[in-house]
Amino acid sequence: MNVNGRHYRTIWIKEDDESVVRIIDQRRLPHEFIIEDLTTVDDTATAIKDMHVRGAGLIGATAGYGMYLAALEAARAASFDSHMEEAAEKLLSTRPTAVNLSWAVKRQLDAVMRAGSPAERTAVALRTAVEIADEDAEFCRRIGEHGVRLIEEIAAAKNGRTVNILTHCNAGWLAFVDYGSATSPIYAAFDRGIDVHVWVDETRPRNQGASLTAWELGQHGVPHTVIPDNAGGHLMQHGLVDIVIVGTDRTTYTGDVANKTGTYLKALAAKDNGVPFYVALPSSTFDWEIRDGVRDIPIEERGPDEVMYIEGLCDGEIKRVLLTPRESRAANYAFDVTPARLITGLITERGICAPNEEAILGLYPEHRR
Ligand code: MRU
Repeated sequence: MNVNGRHYRTIWIKEDDESVVRIIDQRRLPHEFIIEDLTTVDDTATAIKDMHVRGAGLIGATAGYGMYLAALEAARAASFDSHMEEAAEKLLSTRPTAVNLSWAVKRQLDAVMRAGSPAERTAVALRTAVEIADEDAEFCRRIGEHGVRLIEEIAAAKNGRTVNILTHCNAGWLAFVDYGSATSPIYAAFDRGIDVHVWVDETRPRNQGASLTAWELGQHGVPHTVIPDNAGGHLMQHGLVDIVIVGTDRTTYTGDVANKTGTYLKALAAKDNGVPFYVALPSSTFDWEIRDGVRDIPIEERGPDEVMYIEGLCDGEIKRVLLTPRESRAANYAFDVTPARLITGLITERGICAPNEEAILGLYPEHRR
């Protein structure tokens, strides 16, 4: 997608140095656009854990490139295999909820360990990292092609009046390699000239909606309004939301969806008000092992400071201020699970399906047991 008119992906190999991976440091957006270099697997693990990069697809792609950096290191280590296994463990321990992380690490290990000499293994690791990133971008593009039909139908039913879409957190191109999942149908609709407007949940505590989704929609020229997280129910009651489209960090093969905390409450409000509630995801975000998402999807608990403090621009400087009494406790459950029964449909790279085992495995028959 474009930043100030120039095309960027969220992760790439440095043009003149194949041993450097470049990312956009998302902690600094929307106020500063900083590109960061990653040169070791430790850099990569820190970038994922401390959320320089975030979002399911990009976490997976970054882990893919991290395994490539690990292969460069392994070629100089005492044991190639042990170095790769340690690197895999390091990356896997960074964040627990987005399943794309373990999917990408496993894909790399399977590919690299089958190759021969260290030089061949390093070449395979680079090729696989690029494949993971390219596939992520292409799958998100296809999600847009399928999802745009939903927006077109609503626009037709409204005789061309504005289609209001509500989204939560950032499942945009910043959360993937390009296009995004939830935003891809929105960009496709906007590019086809459909009159769209996006309600952007601010998404406490880290405010990915207010800082990232608002920024990237603005870069593309898509009309949007940032709202406090708790306003969605009111908007739905008053007919101001035509469709909700969110992303996901892990979706079970039965259709339960883990996404940024607060998604479940939006789904309840949507159900109560008859608003269609869609979840957009590439197949790398399906968990083909877990049946009961509420019981079994691991939910990341982050530090209390993210709840107690808030960061923003003040007199030209980024400042952090305390919101709560210093002595109050704060809890920070970063994700929640929306049960399949509250979801209208899943928008995938292979098409739109109902959130149930039969329909999901109908689209992905290779995962039938
Ligand atoms: O904690 P984050 O920012 O990595 O969380 C990911 C998200 O932005 C959302 O949960 C998103 O909707 C799904 S990721 C495509």
